[in-house]
Amino acid sequence: MNILVTGGAGFIGSNFVRWMKKHAPEHRIVNVDALTYAGNLESLRDIPQDEGYRFLRADIRDRAKMNEIFITYDITHVVNFAAESHVDRSIVDPELFLSTNVLGTQSLLDTAKQYWKLMPEDKYSREFREGVRFLQVSTDEVYGALGRDGLFTETSPLAPNSPYSAAKASADLVCRAYYETFGLPLNITRCSNNYGPYQFPEKLIPLMIHNCMEGKSLPVYGDGMQIRDWLYVDDHCSALYAVLTRGLPGEVYNIGGNNERANLDIVRLIIRTLGAKEDLIRYVKDRPGHDRRYAIDNTKITTSLGWAPSIPFEEGIAQTIAWYQNNHEWLEHVLSGAYADYYDRMYAPSFESAD
Ligand code: NAD
Ligand code: TYD
Repeated sequence: MNILVTGGAGFIGSNFVRWMKKHAPEHRIVNVDALTYAGNLESLRDIPQDEGYRFLRADIRDRAKMNEIFITYDITHVVNFAAESHVDRSIVDPELFLSTNVLGTQSLLDTAKQYWKLMPEDKYSREFREGVRFLQVSTDEVYGALGRDGLFTETSPLAPNSPYSAAKASADLVCRAYYETFGLPLNITRCSNNYGPYQFPEKLIPLMIHNCMEGKSLPVYGDGMQIRDWLYVDDHCSALYAVLTRGLPGEVYNIGGNNERANLDIVRLIIRTLGAKEDLIRYVKDRPGHDRRYAIDNTKITTSLGWAPSIPFEEGIAQTIAWYQNNHEWLEHVLSGAYADYYDRMYAPSFESAD
């Protein structure tokens, strides 16, 4: 496979590149990332550029550039991580989320359709190159919020509540349309909250770890009893590989590890592990439109693709906390913005780039 990974300098994308290098190194990866505040090449420091791996700085909305990349690298698979991903930022700047998450996805769908279609000029033809696949990495947040009971299945109605989840749901619907109308071979995955190394410290777990290590206040929204279904990032990566290689075209797969936790319990666990005191907790004003509970029914992917999560939460969170303790420099760099210089120092002008 010649896989275009988009957003591969972000949290899950960089973990996916690393996971692929370890578990399926026979595939070639072209990693395309615009390097927004959330994209960080220091997260890929240990992955050398060679025949099997190439990084290119580009925006997925740049159609000419995407087209050039498909042709140059004969792309056969797309794993689309590239997105604006933080709910709180989407409340401040919804338009950016619609632009990147919806139009960016559509730009990639169009490029894939054009490049993979056997008779691109024939609007009735649904024939595509053998074996190609587009994987849209989506989120359980498209289903909206759950009450105390129930789980999201793949047929739960889409009912997004934040500009972020509305943009992701919209992208899912555009993907669906490209499957139904054009027959583009694609899948959509909807995963629950991920945690693990290299997550930007604006999200709950790395933010709390960082603040706790610094002795700073821990801002808990509302009563802290909102529930998320946490999955270790490597388990998400193995699920994505299962869908990419064995998923049925047109199907949606939910991904989750049956691991529901209240935010406050996670914050307390981090405090205990780091030997800090609970008086660091500060209850702050709740997020507008805050979803109360997410929880995934993963029956479809476990039964039809044989995937199962492998890392228990206690083990994953201990590893994650240890990783942040041992990678203070990474954390300081992403927070200081020093990493923004990294691309120029490491990649230009000696490496090819799409700039
Ligand atoms: P992230 O914010 O850490 O990374 C996103 C990456 O996309 C960054 O490297 C950024 O530079 C890049 N990017 C942004 N706009 C771009 C553009 N226009 N062109 C090219 N690159 C661009 O996000 P993440 O947490 O790694 O999430 C990755 C994907 O997985 C997202 O699509 C998100 O919706 C989805 N997802 C995330 C979670 C989670 O818990 N983090 C759960 C389920 C699904
Ligand atoms: P987050 O990591 O932003 O993921 P998402 O909103 O996509 O689920 O937030 C996870 C939960 O933690 C969510 O209920 C909001 C809450 N939260 C806080 O209480 N304090 C914080 O500082 C942050 C960033 C999140």
